[in-house]
Amino acid sequence: MVLLDVIEKKRDGLENSTEEIRAFVKAFVDGELQDAQVSAWMMAICCRGMSEREIADLTLTMMHSGDVIDLSDLPGIKVDKHSTGGVGDTTTLVVAPLVAACGGTVAKMSGRGLAHSGGTLDKLESVPGVCIERSMEDFKHIVRKTGVAVIGQSGDLVPADKKMYALRDVTGTVKSIPLIASSIMSKKLAAGADAIVLDVKTGNGAFMNTFEDSRKLAREMVKLGNNLGRKTVAVITDMNRPLGMAIGNGLEMKEAIEVLTGKVPLSDPLVRVCMILGSYMLKVSGIAETLDDAETKLTEALVSGRGYEKLRAMIEELGGDTSFTDEPEKLADAALCVPIYPEKEGYMGSIDARELGIAAAVLGAGRFKKDDVIDPAVGILMKKRCGDRVAPEEPFAVIYANDEDKLKAAEPMIKGAVVITDEKPEDLPLVYDVIE
Ligand code: URA
Ligand code: CA
Repeated sequence: MVLLDVIEKKRDGLENSTEEIRAFVKAFVDGELQDAQVSAWMMAICCRGMSEREIADLTLTMMHSGDVIDLSDLPGIKVDKHSTGGVGDTTTLVVAPLVAACGGTVAKMSGRGLAHSGGTLDKLESVPGVCIERSMEDFKHIVRKTGVAVIGQSGDLVPADKKMYALRDVTGTVKSIPLIASSIMSKKLAAGADAIVLDVKTGNGAFMNTFEDSRKLAREMVKLGNNLGRKTVAVITDMNRPLGMAIGNGLEMKEAIEVLTGKVPLSDPLVRVCMILGSYMLKVSGIAETLDDAETKLTEALVSGRGYEKLRAMIEELGGDTSFTDEPEKLADAALCVPIYPEKEGYMGSIDARELGIAAAVLGAGRFKKDDVIDPAVGILMKKRCGDRVAPEEPFAVIYANDEDKLKAAEPMIKGAVVITDEKPEDLPLVYDVIE
């Protein structure tokens, strides 16, 4: 087989065979293809798409490019949860402990922030002492002991994705349904869970901006999971505005703790989305028969504080200093806390979630280069949501910063990300669709 033909066929809108996809990805992982060749192939995939059969072949090939984890020696149905990436999207830190508190088994490998979107590992590391690099024995030990472990990718999991993602990030080839579906599902399948609940974000702060694209992506991923015997459900949720009020790692950890300690009303959007995702996790785990039954259990776990106890226990097992979870103000100790005021009176009309995510990264909450160091204390705390009344004397957000220059750079971005309107904006749904 001539590997150049594989690129040219895709360029011309033809299908790549199973053998071609396997050979091409293997050659890349083995260092036998140039980055330029793989980038060209991925750009052709972006422009030409892939058939369902090609997406399945690519996903399986990527999944088997490295270690495949076997969790079968852990008791019960192991459930995983994955968000396609959002802003102020602190659901894992709330939902994983709540599901464990209801008797679920959550064994999850998370990622770091990507572009404007946050990552659970960075949030966990805002608690001093937390170490997310664990051995497989350690991972299983924590799951057995607490029912929940969220760690970094262990071992040599899907090396094909690591190499492909590094190129996609710099060649304009992130936004592609076949490439996103195979990237996410190869990792989920290799990580060994029996059941997977996907939170597919849609809107200006998501990787998929339109509902139609988000639904296509959700359908592909659900098919990939179910065809391989993993019970997979996708919930399509709104990312046209930040989900929670906090954007930034320590601030988001603090918000998760506030939810789990009953300081946030149950009607809050972040709590609502957590309840919905958690309900599907309990359902696919066989712990709840109906979504109503599941939500009753999750609410009980939240109100009783058992969910918080699970988060605390997991953080302790990861080496974290639990005085920070018990006194979460310590997580937000930036030197500069600067309120931001609206230019005029009116309604918070719209918020550009993506722009806020980038502004938080500018403050030091995210990375622009792979080895940038995260500052856990910095970020943005929103004081108003879309639809709230605003007035010039009342801040709509507070910036947490540790650096004057970064503060100066982020402030106009945050101001520019909100639009104040005379009319109250329409409410957007939190959940658009569920693909089972
Ligand atoms: N997250 C991933 O893991 N991969 C993608 O391609 C996009 C988001
Ligand atoms: Ca290996």
